[in-house]
Amino acid sequence: MGSDPSRRIAVLISGRGSNLQALIDAIAEGRLDATISVVISNRADAQGLDRARGAGVDAVVIDHRAFASRALFEEAVARELRGRRVSLVCLAGFMRLLGATFLDAFPNAIVNVHPSLLPAFPGVDAQRQAWEHGAKVAGATVHLVTGELDGGPIVLQSCVPVMDDDTPDRLAARILVEEHRIYPEAVRILLDGDHEVQGRRFVKRT
Ligand code: GAR
Repeated sequence: MGSDPSRRIAVLISGRGSNLQALIDAIAEGRLDATISVVISNRADAQGLDRARGAGVDAVVIDHRAFASRALFEEAVARELRGRRVSLVCLAGFMRLLGATFLDAFPNAIVNVHPSLLPAFPGVDAQRQAWEHGAKVAGATVHLVTGELDGGPIVLQSCVPVMDDDTPDRLAARILVEEHRIYPEAVRILLDGDHEVQGRRFVKRT
């Protein structure tokens, strides 16, 4: 376990794990003072598991299909995280909706990165949604997780232009650069704790 318990985080993934990699790199480069206690994937074939192990981080698979209900799956994940005494849970391409069992276990301590300028385009395939809608500006959002899909208080956002000759893939690649930039920055802000949540608004304390 890392030395400072208040800066121990967990990362939950389902696939590629490039945002996990951004967190690993930010820690390695001294831009983020944190320790990743564990990476949990709900899929055994997630590429991010190799990234975690490559960085010497514990990587655990908890397959949601092995549980009779969402609540039981969430209880198993929460138990693993409580055992590691993490103070912040970072969702990084974790493609399971989280319900009350999990949210109640980590109040105001779950954060997610989403590839759109929320509240526009929540849900899956957000970059394609923005492209199909004809938006001229797209981007990335880091937000606290609540019971509302992609709906919690916004910690950081960054925007990118949508070009006339974009494809959804090209737009997604441009957004991903911003995700990798703002996610470690948002985690740093959250761990520093110099903020408060006023209704929907996440604001720095002055
Ligand atoms: C990222 O683009 C992330 O924003 C998105 O999944 C991708 C995961 O990539 N998450 C969502 O759409 C959540 N609603 P990664 O596994 O390479 O980090």
